[in-house]
Amino acid sequence: MAQQEDVFKKIVSHCKEYGFVFPSSDIYDGLGAVYDYGQNGVELKNNIKQYWWQSMVLLHENIVGIDAAIFMHPTTWKASGHVDAFNDPLIDNRDSKKRYRADVLIEEQMAKYEDKIQKEIEKAQKRFGDNFDEATFRATSERVLENQQKYDNLHHRYQEVMNAEGGIDLEGLKQIILDEEIVCPISGTRNWTDVRQFNLMFKTEMGSTADGASTIYLRPETAQGIFVNYLNVQKTGRMKLPFGIAQIGKAFRNEIVARQFIFRMREFEQMEMQFFIQPGTELDWFAKWKEIRMKWHQNLGFGAENYRFHDHDKLAHYANAATDIEFHMPFGFKEVEGIHSRTNFDLSQHAKYSGKKIEYFDPERNESYTPYVIETSIGVDRMFLSIMCHSYEEQQLPDGQIRTVLHLPAALAPVKLAVFPLTKKDGMPEKAQEIINELRFHFNCKYEEKDQIGKRYRRMDAIGCPYCVTVDQQTLEDNTVTLRDRDTMEQRRVAISELRSIIEDKVSITSLLKKLL
Ligand code: GAP
Repeated sequence: MAQQEDVFKKIVSHCKEYGFVFPSSDIYDGLGAVYDYGQNGVELKNNIKQYWWQSMVLLHENIVGIDAAIFMHPTTWKASGHVDAFNDPLIDNRDSKKRYRADVLIEEQMAKYEDKIQKEIEKAQKRFGDNFDEATFRATSERVLENQQKYDNLHHRYQEVMNAEGGIDLEGLKQIILDEEIVCPISGTRNWTDVRQFNLMFKTEMGSTADGASTIYLRPETAQGIFVNYLNVQKTGRMKLPFGIAQIGKAFRNEIVARQFIFRMREFEQMEMQFFIQPGTELDWFAKWKEIRMKWHQNLGFGAENYRFHDHDKLAHYANAATDIEFHMPFGFKEVEGIHSRTNFDLSQHAKYSGKKIEYFDPERNESYTPYVIETSIGVDRMFLSIMCHSYEEQQLPDGQIRTVLHLPAALAPVKLAVFPLTKKDGMPEKAQEIINELRFHFNCKYEEKDQIGKRYRRMDAIGCPYCVTVDQQTLEDNTVTLRDRDTMEQRRVAISELRSIIEDKVSITSLLKKLL
């Protein structure tokens, strides 16, 4: 566990050192849970977005895109339920003045019991070696049974308060924190305030005069921009059910506990698709979209064992199925994407609050109805983080040296080809530039002439550049270069005229998309 935390810390500093992610307003010591993407980060992020956008909009004839404004009419958020119910339960420690999510404090306490059990198992495993039988050990070890009992009791109580009639039982949450003797990690005391609901939406005002100004919200999800445009798109695009609307854009949540780098941010980006369908077909479509989305993730080649579905047992009142796609991050399996069967809740609510008829006339059934919706919703930043975590490697080389390499899927890498002149003379820089001038129209290239070749390779490994080319004396004679592969570090001699055909297909988003079909 500690080792994994170290790896994660290294990934965070690598992101900063190599121009992927910086804390926002870094010169002012940053802003909590807000980040900027640097010169390499923005390229990787754009490639992720392109992979998603094209897999939705290019590969599906019945999915179109939109780009709705971040500001929306305030009634949107009343209708969607966000004004009344988009809350987290918060609690303050009076001594440290630190604020926590009450539910997270309890979940961390449950994780502590699980950790204790796991440690007992690992100790016994070492002691008994091949003869170890985990099931028998779990059923007989006193320490395991004791911690399991504590975990089960806490889990049961927690479920009860979180799912109480009429919403979360806030007093019940506080009582659990007191009974479990949970202390503030900063002050070490149990001097807690009551638990209060905290709305996660950021507010601002629109209008120039204080009197005339109205409160508006920064959108906490992009989905509502799609719902309010359902009629516009369906009519102007003459869309027939089933059809989808896709959107990529910023979303904002005033997260109480923002941790784990870009995993939980206050300003982040979502890629959402709402798929409008005939009522009654939703469970089939839900299953189909689960399959399509999992394939999209696994297509990156990170290994099926690093993904799992987490189907929700408890559903929001308007949903009739929901699952998360979780990825194996250094801090455990974590949600990257949500897939939800949202019935006709959102469209019906907007019809009610706007007074507009939001329906679909089905020519085959000769009737009008409010479509049902399957939503796929993925965070760009979480996807970015999962890719970074999986790609980062500190590789031990045969000569004992360590090279830090990002095994990014070539199609997502910020730079596809680096071109180096062996020396800065004899026309080698000009030749290298000539190669770049030819290839830059096809993929992202970078010219590097500083330091010896070995160091230049390392810098390119660290940003995940899949190919490097070196121009040397022989190039000037026969127009060939050495082409070096990032992952195998193998070098081969190839003609300059072949470079494009060797590289282009491997680094294009199209190559990824073709594997989806
Ligand atoms: N429209 C549905 C919706 O917004 P969600 O599960 O709240 O559902 C969807 O969010 C995805 O957005 C998550 O799976 C996650 O990838 C991303 N996401 C949500 N909150 C985030 C945050 N604070 N920081 C970064 N990504 C976030």
